Amino acid sequence: MRTQVGIVGAGPAGLLLSHLLHREGIESVVLDNRSRADIEATIRAGVLEQGTVDLLQALGLGERMQREGAVHHGIELRFAGLGHRVDLSELTGGKAITVYAQHEVIKDLVAARLGAGGTIVFDAEAASVHDLDGVTPMITYAHGGARERLTCDFVAGCDGFHGICRPAIPQSARKEFAHVYPFGWFGILTRAPPSAHELIYTHHSRGFALVSTRSPDIQRLYFQCDPHDDVANWPDERIWAEFRARLATHDGWTPREGPVIQKNIVAMRSFVCETMRHGRLFLAGDAAHIVPPTGAKGLNLAVADVCLLSRALAAFYRDGRQELLNAYPETALRRIWRAEHFSWWMTSMLHQFPGNDPFQERLQLAELAYVTTSRAKAVTLAENYVGLPLE
Ligand code: FAD
Ligand code: DHB
Repeated sequence: MRTQVGIVGAGPAGLLLSHLLHREGIESVVLDNRSRADIEATIRAGVLEQGTVDLLQALGLGERMQREGAVHHGIELRFAGLGHRVDLSELTGGKAITVYAQHEVIKDLVAARLGAGGTIVFDAEAASVHDLDGVTPMITYAHGGARERLTCDFVAGCDGFHGICRPAIPQSARKEFAHVYPFGWFGILTRAPPSAHELIYTHHSRGFALVSTRSPDIQRLYFQCDPHDDVANWPDERIWAEFRARLATHDGWTPREGPVIQKNIVAMRSFVCETMRHGRLFLAGDAAHIVPPTGAKGLNLAVADVCLLSRALAAFYRDGRQELLNAYPETALRRIWRAEHFSWWMTSMLHQFPGNDPFQERLQLAELAYVTTSRAKAVTLAENYVGLPLE
């Protein structure tokens, strides 16, 4: 097979890139090692920045998101048994976030690509990328028991943190920055109506907890846990006892409980790969960087990366200009490091660290008190949370 841009990974990065390129008249083929059903059912992120929402709408991909997603104008920071609202819209000149599940975005993107005649090869395991220094790089992949090749002008590595593209950049040409947190998130879906109108980020001596939503009858909640714990250790009653304890307020607030219909544990890390380019290979999304989920930035960063990359590829195909391609790593990394800092800051402020000494906990509470009383500090949180403008 031959195409202009060979894309490894049908996550938000790969699918949106394919869509953006199509609008510029550039052909692409997307490969993913999972099935369509699997991709469309994997529960992950839920918070879309204002810029992500605006982009999906401008691309004609926002119809279901507008109907089924929930626009939130604020969040609650809860600590020392009291809730404090951060008015995102008032602090950012009217911006907001939309809660709409990542797998719903994926469904919309897959339907749009296939509807426009695009090629997504599911169950296609990319094995290696070759000739990145030449003008016709190649991807080898396994599909239906056969070994196949995809020859292209460019390879987009959108294959997530465990993909094959980042390791294809020689070790001497990349520098990796990593920080692993000593805790994970236990995430659940529960069949119960929303406990609150807005997301609640909670600091508690037993550990962080987060109340989010999905629909009028499904809630998404998370609590900080041991990353090596096993969901089998957590029957429903134990889960709810933990949420009740962490989310308790002085005025007796309790979450709305229901049967737990899905549970999983995710590890938390911060990670950045510099550079994001090697010859004709370009990395985007989780393939190049990971943030802890506290800032709700991962999916949104993937979107920002492919916006830049599609613009750079369009300039190349339209006018033969390479400046934007050359500038891609540096431009993308500016936003990535800002999001890395924000995600680390939110994580540090809200979680209990093993061996936490009382001094550190007092510092966290002082920071939370400042965020919820100083307009300057609240603006800092709000403008990062709703998303800084794309460059
Ligand atoms: P991925 O979604 O990981 O997609 C990569 C794709 O590549 C996958 O489909 C994979 O199957 C495929 N692939 C991998 N290797 C190969 C191969 N060899 N051959 C072919 N295909 C391959 N982000 C937010 O913005 N907001 C949130 O609220 C948020 N909450 C989160 C909550 C949780 C619990 C988790 C786990 C993540 C959260 N994130 C959030 C992060 C977000 O889900 C990711 O950042 C996002 O999925 C990144 O998209 P991507 O396209 O770069 O990578
Ligand atoms: C959700 C995930 C996040 O990482 C976050 O910070 C807020 C909400 C969610 O899945 O709804």
